[in-house]
Amino acid sequence: MADKIQMKTPLVEMDGDEMTRILWKMIKDILILPYVDLKTEYYDLGMKHRDDTDDQVTIDSALATKKYGVAVKCATITANAARVKEYNLKKMWASPNGTIRAILDGTVFRKPIMVKGIRPLIPTWEKPITIARHAYGDIYKNTEIRVEGPAKAELVVTGADGKETRRTIMDFQDAGIVQGVYNTDKSISNFARSCFNYALEQKEDLWFATKDTVSKIYDHRFKDIFQAIYDADYKEKFEAAGIEYFYTLIDDVVARVVRSKGGMIWACKNYDGDVMSDMMATAFGSLAMMTSVLVSPDGCYEYEAAHGTVQRHYYRYLKGEKTSTNPVATLFAWTGALRKRGQLDGLTDLADFADRLEKATIQTLEEGIMTGDLVAVSTLPDKKKVNSEEFLEAIRERLEER
Ligand SMILES: NC(=O)c1ccc[n+]([C@@H]2O[C@H](COP(=O)([O-])OP(=O)(O)OC[C@H]3O[C@@H](n4cnc5c(N)ncnc54)[C@H](O)[C@@H]3O)[C@@H](O)[C@H]2O)c1
Repeated sequence: MADKIQMKTPLVEMDGDEMTRILWKMIKDILILPYVDLKTEYYDLGMKHRDDTDDQVTIDSALATKKYGVAVKCATITANAARVKEYNLKKMWASPNGTIRAILDGTVFRKPIMVKGIRPLIPTWEKPITIARHAYGDIYKNTEIRVEGPAKAELVVTGADGKETRRTIMDFQDAGIVQGVYNTDKSISNFARSCFNYALEQKEDLWFATKDTVSKIYDHRFKDIFQAIYDADYKEKFEAAGIEYFYTLIDDVVARVVRSKGGMIWACKNYDGDVMSDMMATAFGSLAMMTSVLVSPDGCYEYEAAHGTVQRHYYRYLKGEKTSTNPVATLFAWTGALRKRGQLDGLTDLADFADRLEKATIQTLEEGIMTGDLVAVSTLPDKKKVNSEEFLEAIRERLEER
């Protein structure tokens, strides 16, 4: 069709698993392919194909993201013992998201999609709160030891020149536990730059918090690196954009966020981000309404939904049932990627299409047409529960009107 919207550079398309793989195809067939002359470089990250390629396909998809700059990813199974059996896997492959993150070295930004009728549990929140999680190091790469009885625990760092720096952690009189964690200046700096860049792009304030009063070297290092990079490279840009960088203590920020109106980006250390993003998803109404984008320090973007493969719905789908699975976050991963591709390639019609598609989706929800998960939380007086396909068709009708 000659009148379809044209693209210049392909999107890196990472297909996935289970119910989200079904939604993936529906979204493309109903809402994208009829309007966009879609160019993608396709990578099948479905469990079976990852196993067949010894997970090389995951690595290739991440390298393609580095090459082209924008990817859209479907939710994927992270293998565990049950999945090894279910899919007869050669081994328990690593989490694809972990592999991709390690290659792109990015920061994950999670932002809820707000619609009328789904009120955040905190009544003052008028705008979305984005969580920026530093997805590297800390307790996720810890080394821990169970201390069985009286013992001396020490922290020892041996320099390349053989020089030792030694600190006593604890003189144990009895049994206990001990752990060592680390981070690197490079990763923290990349985290800081990703956050500052994203804040400028979104034109939203950036808040950052650690526990530097207690952790005077470890957490303080995060604070110092953020401040130094801000002062050197971002202060003027933030002032010109009319936004603010604000540092405080983690306990203070929690209290402030709860009282806030929202509309800011909250940068979190790895563990804080892990915990707070789930709290945010629940407090804003639904995990199925949370978008996620990985932004690398060299400016690559990988968009996805924050939820998993919705396994239970998939088994019902396999029995022939038409499920009412919420496709919104996966659809917004597509619109996010198409908009970014449009912006980078100077294709305003592509970016405008992404905007229209998002607006049509929100309009559909605000007119009371929604999937089962949202019917349960929406306060709209007239609600109609539809299955995933009917929901996407309802969006299409509204998109056509636009
Ligand atoms: N980013 C990712 O690729 C990612 C993230 C999390 C989990 N996973 C994988 O997904 C699989 C299932 O994991 P899980 O059950 O813990 O997480 P999940 O997000 O698939 O489901 C968690 C709960 O939320 C509900 N839910 C989630 N998304 C929904 C949607 N779009 N519509 C309606 N309900 C929705 C589910 O029914 C379930 O009750 C696992 O194999 C896991 O490894 C992948």
